[in-house]
Order: sequence, then structure tokens, then C-alpha cells
Amino acid sequence: MALWGGRFSESPADSVFALSRSVQFDWRLAPYDIVSSIAHLEVLESSGLLSKADCAKIRSALTILFSEVTSGKFLPKPEDEDVHSALERGLTEKIGAFGSAIRAGRSRNDQVTTDLKLYLIDNMLAISTAVLHLQESLLSKSLEYVDAIAPGFTHLQHAQPVSFGHELAKHAVSLERDLSRISDWMVRTSTSPLGSGALSGSSLPISPESTAKRLGFDSVAQNSIDAVSDRDYVAEALFIIAMIGLHLSRIGEEWSIWSTTEFGWAQLDDAYSTGSSIMPQKKNPDVAELARGKAGRFIGNLTALLTVLKGLPFAYNRDLQEDKEALFDSVENILLLLAPVAGMVATTKFNREKMRAAAPLGFTLATEIADYLVRKGVNFAQAHEAAGQCVQIAEARNCDLHELSENELQSAHLQLAGDLIKILNVEGAIAARATSNGTAPKSVVMQIAKLRSNAALTAKWVETASQKFIGTMTL
Ligand code: ARG
Repeated sequence: MALWGGRFSESPADSVFALSRSVQFDWRLAPYDIVSSIAHLEVLESSGLLSKADCAKIRSALTILFSEVTSGKFLPKPEDEDVHSALERGLTEKIGAFGSAIRAGRSRNDQVTTDLKLYLIDNMLAISTAVLHLQESLLSKSLEYVDAIAPGFTHLQHAQPVSFGHELAKHAVSLERDLSRISDWMVRTSTSPLGSGALSGSSLPISPESTAKRLGFDSVAQNSIDAVSDRDYVAEALFIIAMIGLHLSRIGEEWSIWSTTEFGWAQLDDAYSTGSSIMPQKKNPDVAELARGKAGRFIGNLTALLTVLKGLPFAYNRDLQEDKEALFDSVENILLLLAPVAGMVATTKFNREKMRAAAPLGFTLATEIADYLVRKGVNFAQAHEAAGQCVQIAEARNCDLHELSENELQSAHLQLAGDLIKILNVEGAIAARATSNGTAPKSVVMQIAKLRSNAALTAKWVETASQKFIGTMTL
């Protein structure tokens, strides 16, 4: 059903209709469109623009339409241009042309961005829940392996020994930042564009404050011209999703490396790996690889939207229709990805012996020698130099640092005594790093507890926000 046409003597060419048609993707907005229509209907009623009886008829038709849309009984037709026109067709099919009365005081320009905000709030909350789930998988794995020892890396070279639980918990910290980005985003996004009309507001006595409240928004958008062309909230959400995707890609990279024959640290569960069509022995880390690969599309979608918005004149321009596919793609793919990544993390078994055996390799205890000298009052530059000499001697003798004799140690620095050998072991090096953010198991346990209590607060926040917004979805 066309929502315009009075001033035209011809309908658009088929190719134009095909180009401008968006219902094949914006149908995802249908339930949100009906919810915002009902909120709008209520202001039309309370302002006296529509009679109570007419409003009751429209409301009950919209309520039926809502259940038909969610059950899949009502679907768009080839001649429907977008979600708004398809739903108006649905409404008028039920109660006749007078159903279009609901269009008073509203334009597709404020309607589409209201729908998109509601869709996105709903989905960002679902993304938060999925991130929390992954975070908990990481944290319980981290606790399981808090006393396992592995080499930590810089430049992909063995650097210093670490608690493997510390290594795993770091991912939960980056996800915590993502979760806080979502709640920050919500504060800025929680303004209602409804009532902005095409661009300049409405001359009808409608109250944008009441629609805002009805839909769960904190306030009304400040400026109607900005409101209909603002897609900052889409760009920000695409950035947040890209950032989550980027974090998942780094998890994917580690899992891929750790499950190689060369590392042999990670054993993937059968349910979270795949085979090869030709090599019967293969067990591939496809979940990890897709986590790494999908980051590309998340970044691409963000870039696509920013490019659409760059230099765009105010207020509404049809370019803005190009915000949707990028957004839907990112939202759907991140939701698709988070659950299997959480499952992969939760079911992976790590080989403690292999990791432990690798921990001292590459002279990862050299820093202990330098720190030992510093504790004895030696200047760090000299201490660093002496520890470097120890490495040189050990390398020449093809032995490990703790195998050096007292004489050899003292040839590097006179204050290097035999008692150093006692602390030259990976367990000691790890236990000594007991700063609150350090790798000592007791520090890591506290880090995990803190992350868990923050996650519990976030879960509460998600619940409250869902009640506020998605609560409006029960008509
Ligand atoms: N399908 C359009 C979009 O996604 C809806 C708004 C159309 N507004 C208009 N003035 N043509 O942006």
C-alpha cells in the first residue's frame, strides 16, 4: 500500500520501486513499529484528535496484527514498499481506510528511527546477555586453571611465566569494557524521536513526552531536525559490536594457535570442532576461525554506515535507508557467534603438563635475576645487564638459568648468590607477582571475584532495562 501518490500522475517505474523497496529487510522492525503505533495512538486519543471508539477499534486491530506478525501469519506482499506501508495495509485490511487516521502527527521519518531505536535497544540487551554468558564461561575456565602455569608472551615470544587462569581472565576484562559501552550507549540512545514529524515537529496537540514514556525512553529528543537524521546510535552500536567482534577474533586466534600440533595446549570438544571432507584425521577449530573471520564484516558494516553519514545534509534523506542492512547483519552475526564461542571456551580442555613444561623455556625467568639484584640494592640497568649475561652463559652451555653454577652466576654479578636458585622457578616467579592485577593465583582469584560481581550488576541492569523497554512489547 503506497503511503503517498496524491501529487503524482504515474506510479514509480518498476526499477525505481525495486530500488527503493526495503520491506525485504526492514520487516524485522514490524513488531516495534506496531508498538510505537500504539503509543502514538494513545496520544491521538488523549489529545482528542481521535475518538475513544475509533481508537479502541484501531488498537484492537493493531493488537491482532501484532500477533499475526509475530506468528508469521501476516507477511509483506511484493507490492509493499516498506515495513510501515505493509503494516498500514494490514491495518486497513482489518478496519477499512479509516485505519490510516493513525498517520496524523507522524511521518515515516520519525517513525523509522523510533522503530530502529526500539529494535536496537532490544538487541543490544540480548547481546549484553550473550556477552555475560561468554564472560562467565571464561571466568569459570579461568578459575579451573588458575594454578596451571604457562609461558606468557610478548611479540609472540616467551616472555614471563603466568598463571593460565590469568591468561584466560584477561578476555573477560575486555568483554567487561564492551558491556559498559552498551550501558553508556543506552543513556545517550534513550531519547524518543517520535513526535518530530517529518523534521519540524507537529502542529497537532500531541505529546511527545507521553509517547516517550510509554515506550520506555528517558526523554524526548531535543531537536526534531536532529532527531529524524540522527543515526549516531546506530554508528555507536556498530562500533560496540565491531569491538566485541574484535575481542572474539583475538580469542579465536589464541584458540587456533593453542590447538595446533606444535602447541598442543588446547583440546577442543568434538561438539565445537569440525572435520575435513578429505583428511579423516582432521579436527579443525572452525568456531575459533569464524570468530576471527567475522570481525571483518563487523568492521566493514561500521565503515559502511559512517561513510553513508559523512557529509549527509539534514534532515531526512533516503540515504538513511542504507543504515539498516549493515546494522541487521552485525546484530544477527554477533548473536550467532557469541553462543558457540562461549560453548567452545566452556568445553576446551587444556594440557597442564605441556604448558608447564613450556613455561621456563626461552629463559622466561631472566627478569627474576634482575629483580633479585634490585632487591639487593643494585641499580636496574646493571641488574638487567647481569641477567642478560646469565642468559648468554646458559645459552652457550645449552642449559636453563636455574642450572647455572654459583661461579657462573657470580661471573655475571658478584651479588648473585646460591640462594637465587631457590627463586629461579616458575611457581616462585608467578607467586611473587601478587599485585592486585598480577599473575599470582591468589591475585587472579580476586580478579575473577571482582569480574563476577561486576557481571552480576550488569545482569541486573539488563533485567531492569529489559523490563523498561521490552516490557512495552506486551501490548
Ligand atoms: N524505508 C525508509 C527508511 O528506511 C523509511 C523512511 C522513508 N521516509 C521517506 N521520507 N521516504 O529510511
